[in-house]
Amino acid sequence: MAILPIAKLGNPILRQVAAKVDPRDIRTKELQRFIDDLFETMLDEPGIGLASPQVSRSIQLVVLGCEGDGEDAFPNTVLINPKIVFYGPQQEENWEGCLSVDGLRGKVTRPAVVRVQALDRQGKSIDIEATGLYAVCIQHEMDHLIGKLFVDRMADMSTLTQLAEFSRYWQKESTPVI
Ligand code: NI
Repeated sequence: MAILPIAKLGNPILRQVAAKVDPRDIRTKELQRFIDDLFETMLDEPGIGLASPQVSRSIQLVVLGCEGDGEDAFPNTVLINPKIVFYGPQQEENWEGCLSVDGLRGKVTRPAVVRVQALDRQGKSIDIEATGLYAVCIQHEMDHLIGKLFVDRMADMSTLTQLAEFSRYWQKESTPVI
């Protein structure tokens, strides 16, 4: 396994639309190793989600996971060629950060519930209904596949906050770094 370098804000690869993964490639050694590397890189940062374009590979593959037994926890998940097939009507505002956007946090409003269909790391179809931080993370990671970052989703840039001030004034609220 290996820790991969992360593309940062300004790197054009973060603005590209990612290519679909050929399902026949999913079970290859190379792609399985890449998925392991994504998880290792995510945990090393540490973060709770990482999309392939963030490690300079523009394919529709993301990994996410948040350990623990709190209400924010969700299982390690691999989404390949994901599609959101349902958005809940309710919107929720959460702080977001991103491993490609160093030192900044901002509030983003997104649907509170999503249902996503994708292939898993075995190439099997999966269908997940997610709420809470899981739903935020799925939407944030899938944005990376269409060249979007959380700052693009901020309706009000006045909440954009540097990390030191975030810790000082806002840290009580949960902060995914995805
Ligand atoms: Ni991100």
